[in-house]
Amino acid sequence: MSTLTMIEKKESTAYVRWSRNERVQHWSLAISFILLVITGFALKYPDSWWVRPVSGVEWLFDLRGLVHRICGAVFLGLGVYHTLYMLGTHRGRMMISAFRPGMKDLRDARQNIAYNLGMSKHPPQFGHFSYMEKAEYLALIWGAAIMGITGLMLWFENTTLRFFSKWVIDLVTVIHLYEAWLATLAIVVWHFYYVIINPDIYPINTSMITGKLTEKEMRDEYFLEWEALQKRDSEEQAAEKIERETKKM
Ligand code: HEM
Repeated sequence: MSTLTMIEKKESTAYVRWSRNERVQHWSLAISFILLVITGFALKYPDSWWVRPVSGVEWLFDLRGLVHRICGAVFLGLGVYHTLYMLGTHRGRMMISAFRPGMKDLRDARQNIAYNLGMSKHPPQFGHFSYMEKAEYLALIWGAAIMGITGLMLWFENTTLRFFSKWVIDLVTVIHLYEAWLATLAIVVWHFYYVIINPDIYPINTSMITGKLTEKEMRDEYFLEWEALQKRDSEEQAAEKIERETKKM
């Protein structure tokens, strides 16, 4: 668990939580998702105030459909890449095991509710991922699979109609729309709360830009992992000291 985060000792200690590859994946997902939301809802609600200025311009509306499909392809390509990254690299497999839900997550959720209701003095302490982050990641995988499958069925409507009746297309459209609402609200309410609005984090969590957490962030958010890293670090320092002294003799 603890080797997913590396201690970096310069002027001040930092904790390297995200690799450059993971940050590029995150921002590719963020950009494609935001464009999918804008272009998708522009189709569904063409008379809303933010779409009206462009809905009369035919080429812009055609461009909307093209951008939705291009971003859909990027979103799916990223999904395939991320699956290969998680299954095919050592770091990815370590992350899968850190994401695995367990009984501690249930206990943490219970304790967090009790803490927020003033019924417990201490909030729960987390390892590499908190139960909220695990739930968010699993929801992302589930949502991406639904949006990918339904999006492809809508994109290749004629092929879908060769195998299914017309009502299936109607159903798939409804599923795509409501999952789009769910995903958008989950990002705006849930994700943006944790990385921006949360009073402990405000004005913003910069770890997806720099890849790093400060000593304070690491201790406040992931105390159990921080503790394990300190223990490993002092063991390594002790081993290095013994090695140096043995060489001197
Ligand atoms: C995950 C983010 C996505 C969001 C938020 C989103 C949103 C939407 C919305 C709101 C609609 C209109 C539904 C309606 O008319 O009732 C729509 C339509 C559509 N979406 Fe998505 N979508 C997403 C992902 C995808 C993906 C991954 C694909 C392709 C693989 C895709 C392909 C389509 C297609 C082909 C349509 C039919 C209408 C059109 O754009 O011309 N979508 N989407």
